Amino acid sequence: MTDTADGQSEAGDAGTDPATAPSERVASLLDELTLGEKRVLIKGGIDPEGIATGYVPPIERLGIPGCSLVDGPMGIRAVTSTAFPATVSLAASWDPDLARRFGETIASEARAADQDVLLAPGVNIARVPQCGRNFEYYSEDPTLASELAVPMIEGVQSAGVMACVKHYAANNQETDRHTTSAEIPERALRELYLPAFEAAVTEAEVASVMAAYNRINGTHATEHPRLLTEILREEWGFDGFTVSDWWATTDGPAAVEAGLDLDMPGMPVYEWHEPDVKLLDVLDALPDGAWFPKRRIAELVTAPWQPENPNPHVLEESHFGSELTAAIEAGRITEADLDRMIGRILGQYERFGLLDASGTGGTAASDRGAGDEDPRPAGVIDADEHRDLAIEIAERGTVLLENDGVLPLDGDDLDSVALIGPHADEAKVGGGGSSEVDAVGTVAPPRGLRECLGGDVDVTVERGVDRIEMDSFTESPFPDLPSIGGAGPSMADAERAAREADVAVVMVQDAATEGADRAFDLPDEQDDLIERVAAAAERTIVVLKTSGAVAMPWREDVDAILEAWYPGQADGGAVANVLCGNVDPTGRLPVTFGAAAEDYPADTEERYPGRDLEVDYSEGVFVGYRHFDDADVEPLFPFGHGESYAAFEYGDCNVSLADGASDASGPTATVSVSVENASERDGWEVVQCYLAPPGDAVDRPPRALVGFETVPLEAGKSRTVELEIDRRSFAYYDEDAADWVIEDGEHTFHVGRSSRDLRGSATVSLGE
Ligand code: BGC
Repeated sequence: MTDTADGQSEAGDAGTDPATAPSERVASLLDELTLGEKRVLIKGGIDPEGIATGYVPPIERLGIPGCSLVDGPMGIRAVTSTAFPATVSLAASWDPDLARRFGETIASEARAADQDVLLAPGVNIARVPQCGRNFEYYSEDPTLASELAVPMIEGVQSAGVMACVKHYAANNQETDRHTTSAEIPERALRELYLPAFEAAVTEAEVASVMAAYNRINGTHATEHPRLLTEILREEWGFDGFTVSDWWATTDGPAAVEAGLDLDMPGMPVYEWHEPDVKLLDVLDALPDGAWFPKRRIAELVTAPWQPENPNPHVLEESHFGSELTAAIEAGRITEADLDRMIGRILGQYERFGLLDASGTGGTAASDRGAGDEDPRPAGVIDADEHRDLAIEIAERGTVLLENDGVLPLDGDDLDSVALIGPHADEAKVGGGGSSEVDAVGTVAPPRGLRECLGGDVDVTVERGVDRIEMDSFTESPFPDLPSIGGAGPSMADAERAAREADVAVVMVQDAATEGADRAFDLPDEQDDLIERVAAAAERTIVVLKTSGAVAMPWREDVDAILEAWYPGQADGGAVANVLCGNVDPTGRLPVTFGAAAEDYPADTEERYPGRDLEVDYSEGVFVGYRHFDDADVEPLFPFGHGESYAAFEYGDCNVSLADGASDASGPTATVSVSVENASERDGWEVVQCYLAPPGDAVDRPPRALVGFETVPLEAGKSRTVELEIDRRSFAYYDEDAADWVIEDGEHTFHVGRSSRDLRGSATVSLGE
């Protein structure tokens, strides 16, 4: 049996009609709008409140309100808000329910700040560990990314906020992100880089999609007809609006023709009212042609704000400005084009109640210019439940990579703990870039540890080495912090503290940021610090706060390693709760931790960071564990890995095909396995299911994640987990057929604790 994976739906099937007519209400607004007003609704303007990251001005005459778009993935930017853990930390929980609650909660904060669109989630695939934004993304695996992005979006939108999934598509590195072309074979695009976007559209009905900076097979994402119209709308049936990443559009008319609806932020950076570019407002007040060209000043001022790979377009006026005027005059772009774009934008306004909103919170009703009632739920910033959720995600995402028994720490057995690291005295709130959040309040590690261990345990703090330099889009790199001691940090002090304590906890971190990629090694002298502390201390625990894998040359010398990612404002309390066993470390790696950068598939200059502005994705579908398994490279810690303080045993694994599985609508399968908590501690297990395909027709990864369930299990309890496997999971993308194809032959399901710790299997034969 060889069959298309979508059953009746043939390749090229248009799904929802792309020319979907606007509702009556939107159609009548379109009738009333003047050409000038239409031009206002398709590009960003100035937010009168100075809060929004992007703002679509109102048309008060017609009761169309302004629309505020705000970053971002980990907390509401530009106001003081709850700083949640990094997206990769949420991903490490492998818990769709947690993702849904996170979505609802962050949307509540967005509503409280009177924002309408949340510029999140980022669902790009972690193709290379060096990507500076991997902390903002979920995973190297499209199934895990989709399973978490869908409930997150549903959560956001259920709270009355439009989600904007980003960055569509293949924005997998920060090096030269504005100019490089991701040269991707179709199969890899379909199997790895598009599924999370597809799920956001077809399952979560996301309101908005952000077109990325980069080019894909030669064409800018903002001007890509295939991505923005053929795939997004004609195949997937997207009826929301597309928006450019900030200053990503390079050709206005081409973008309109391709299917871009909204250009952001709609003005050069020095007109863009954001607290972090106030200096530019001052510059803007200078008369043109003054003693120094304004544009040059702007370049100089924006340089540090754009770490390594400056956006060449930030000083340009909107490409939906005079370029479109000329194109309209020349007849290349018509008013019908504008109506189509605005119909999509206003369609989402209508769906989310903006057209009925009078404006609540910070935005004056007159700015909104709309009706009387706001049907959307009111929000709140910094509720107790939000703080609790920030703690819960940080705890649930923390991955215990290795433990020789030193953990959990027990305050009753200890007299002293040395807490060491260049940032051991502060929370790691997030990475650099547009996702930065001004946290409502942070818990630093010393406080968290002291509270968990109790007053009888002496916790000494030493930095050991200088603080790690951070790039920040929004604030000075070094916020004021109380100094720990008199002189600067010294290795000798760290070693002494380690020697004198019962146990040393070393906290180290990377400095990942949007706008630049990072090295695979920990920055500065942190490896050295760990080695020296490990040599001095009786027992050493390393807590990594990184955006992903780093080299761990000291692995054999330490007793436990924890990956806490960027835990957000709750850092100190959450990490201490895991260290002390108040909660089980439930996190599992959403990315493979390789031993060296060379072990990853993008190991040539052509593949990463690219040559002549082309990045060659010739590794195809062999990314992450798909590569490590296929090439038989031993990872340091495999995808899906994470220890628990409890111990789990797996029973037999069974698989059954649904009725009709051999006809065009099948197969779907149910994989079941029983899991027992065979320890005396309560814990959580993440039951993972990988499918090994026949792989006769094309070269396929040995195994791919097709399902998982995250289950709390009390000590001694067992439970049968049933995983529903959909048709697509069996299939590969056939480039010739331009469709998903399911091969005949044996499909084997493996269940287990990670991609490399498989505890049972069951096989189905198709077509025989
Ligand atoms: C980022 C987006 C972000 C936008 C607005 C861009 O630099 O790539 O993720 O939403 O800025 O801040």
